[in-house]
Amino acid sequence: MKVNYIKGDGIGPEIWEATRPALDEALRLENGAPIEWTELLAGEKAREETGEPLPEETMNALKGARFAIKGPLGTPVGSGIRSLNVALRQGLDLYACVRPVQYIEGLSTPVKHPEKIDMVIFRENTEDVYAGIEFAALTPEAKKLAEFLRDSLGVKNLSGDAAIGVKPMTERGSKRLIRKALQYALDNGRKSATLVHKGNIMKFTEGAFRQWGYEVAREEFGARTRLENEDGEGKLIIKDRIADAMFQEALLRPEEYDVIATPNLNGDYLSDALAAQTGGLGLAPGVNMSDSLAFFEATHGTAPNLAGKDAANPGSLMLSGAMLLEAMGEKKAAGRIRKALRKAIGQKRVPADLAGQMEGSSVVGCREFGEIVGENL
Ligand code: NAI
Repeated sequence: MKVNYIKGDGIGPEIWEATRPALDEALRLENGAPIEWTELLAGEKAREETGEPLPEETMNALKGARFAIKGPLGTPVGSGIRSLNVALRQGLDLYACVRPVQYIEGLSTPVKHPEKIDMVIFRENTEDVYAGIEFAALTPEAKKLAEFLRDSLGVKNLSGDAAIGVKPMTERGSKRLIRKALQYALDNGRKSATLVHKGNIMKFTEGAFRQWGYEVAREEFGARTRLENEDGEGKLIIKDRIADAMFQEALLRPEEYDVIATPNLNGDYLSDALAAQTGGLGLAPGVNMSDSLAFFEATHGTAPNLAGKDAANPGSLMLSGAMLLEAMGEKKAAGRIRKALRKAIGQKRVPADLAGQMEGSSVVGCREFGEIVGENL
């Protein structure tokens, strides 16, 4: 099968060079069909070769693709694009950001029982306060909007010198994310799906998210789901938690949570917090999905302080690659990557970011760590 890849900026090319051979080898060992890799240009490399950080050719290829994988992309200076990642998400309608969080043995973490954490977060990726509708304080736009809210809509407690951001959340946008999360939970035999929202305060946005979530569960998955207080052996439990309480739950009772569906901002915070709880901020995989494309990515940034030094950890991209193999139906090859990475970590010759959290370990470079994973396949 054909898979598009973008190496990315900063440490992107290095972690890609360490990851790709491992994916190919895992497939070969499991007699899987080899991947036909096709490079697409984006970021600094694209700007140097085509003058554009996100060429139309790249977008067109991605629009017609089922699978793609990318390294991190930097924010291009002076290109008029706010963020390449946001441009990709919006241009390709990648509405679901999916981040599995699971502990890898051997890593030291800030919590006592990281092994109790096994969650998959579905974060809405296109709406909410990240929609980019924001006006700086004291600009004519902010003043005009404040005036309109005050004079036409009767808003009383809004100061004329406020910076203003808008939080759009639609029924369609929320429901399609929640639908994907519930489908995933059912397909993978998960016990529960939790709607995480701040609906007690933001009633018409986050409160509506909660309500739409229960509607999707009842109307589209009614026969296979139940509420917390209902009986029904084997059915997927649908529950909801207020976002701040969820952070507490994730620390105190993580084993009671499984699949999470949540709006953009909550999901952003929660996925990093949970990744840190499992010790794996540098090992957190992820995928951004539309209805047609699954775009896997290393969830960290370009790490400019490490770029070109052979010092980065390729683990996040490798685990994202394992998710890609799984999505392609190559479950055994995916399992091999995960197991080899766990073994490599167990051997305690790891990149600097992991060595810092592991007693008795020694530091190896990005390339060498890729080779160690390869040997463990
Ligand atoms: P960052 O994730 O690049 O770096 C934060 C810290 O984590 C740094 O100390 C870095 O050295 C370390 N780190 C990150 N990845 C690592 C790895 N694989 N191995 C070892 N250490 C690692 O975040 P930062 O500095 O905020 O962003 C740098 C650039 O990356 C910005 O231009 C930003 O826009 C972009 N970015 C891109 C993302 C993407 O493409 N998905 C996500 C986040 C940021």
